Amino acid sequence: MSDIDMGAARMAATVLDGKAMAAMLRAEAQRDAKELIAKGITPGLAVALVGEDPASAVYVRNKVKACEELGIVSTMQTLPATTSETELLALIDRWNADPSIDGILVQLPVPKQIRTNALIDRIDPAKDVDGFHPHNLGLLAAGRAGLVACTPAGVMKMLAIYGKAYGWTPAGKRAVVLGRSITVGKPMAMLLTNADATVTICHSRTPDLAGHVAQADLLIAAVGQRHLVQGGWIKPGAVVIDVGIHRGDDGKLTGDVDYEAARWRAAAITPVPGGVGPMTIAQLMRNTVDACTQRRAVTNA
Ligand code: GUN
Repeated sequence: MSDIDMGAARMAATVLDGKAMAAMLRAEAQRDAKELIAKGITPGLAVALVGEDPASAVYVRNKVKACEELGIVSTMQTLPATTSETELLALIDRWNADPSIDGILVQLPVPKQIRTNALIDRIDPAKDVDGFHPHNLGLLAAGRAGLVACTPAGVMKMLAIYGKAYGWTPAGKRAVVLGRSITVGKPMAMLLTNADATVTICHSRTPDLAGHVAQADLLIAAVGQRHLVQGGWIKPGAVVIDVGIHRGDDGKLTGDVDYEAARWRAAAITPVPGGVGPMTIAQLMRNTVDACTQRRAVTNA
């Protein structure tokens, strides 16, 4: 799978193809969705987009499209940027009470007049397919089963597929997570801890970021700064997962890691685009099917 750069006499990293891996994950979710549908239960996902952020609109459209492909019913509500917190919470209440809806997702960020925590707290934890509710984050911290945030859960699936193919495991490895958000950094660190990695979380106030990165057998970059991680920082042979996504002035997408330089040091690396992004959506489908199965107490007998 790797190609060889004769000049540098170094192997290029294995590229972790998120599109191919996501196709596998979606096929599994589709199979399980079909089984539910055959039993007369159609999984349903409700998605709210508040305001007109173009990037958010693209993400939401892709989520709805993925639902259609899998036979999951999606309800999409686009609300004006002036929507009040009370109005959004009332919509969440309606979705919480609707038995045909298994998953609820409010695309973040939301406009300033809406408190993010208020909306997260309002979503029924059983329908919290984003895994952002404190109930689900608490279960994750306790190492117990619950709904897990899509991006970090998708990263764990990528690591599992890579690990199976190449005899690699996060257990016993030094993992460095750049970023401490509840959407990626914190749940990622908890998942890796639960998988027996030794985890360091770095953030904007961490001194000597390069020194930490140099120690990492596994690096997860989720800082939201284009090319913050320089190729030379990477420990040779590390597994590098880039969660960042930035659109340059040339319209091209790039990540938090300088991919072109890093791929000559890493053993494996995710590209941007086509790495973590597709896995996030596939995992959302998985979470929706799981929420449906759990909530409607379906037995596979
Ligand atoms: N905005 C960026 N990523 C996400 C995500 O995973 N879920 C939601 N709800 N909003 C996001």
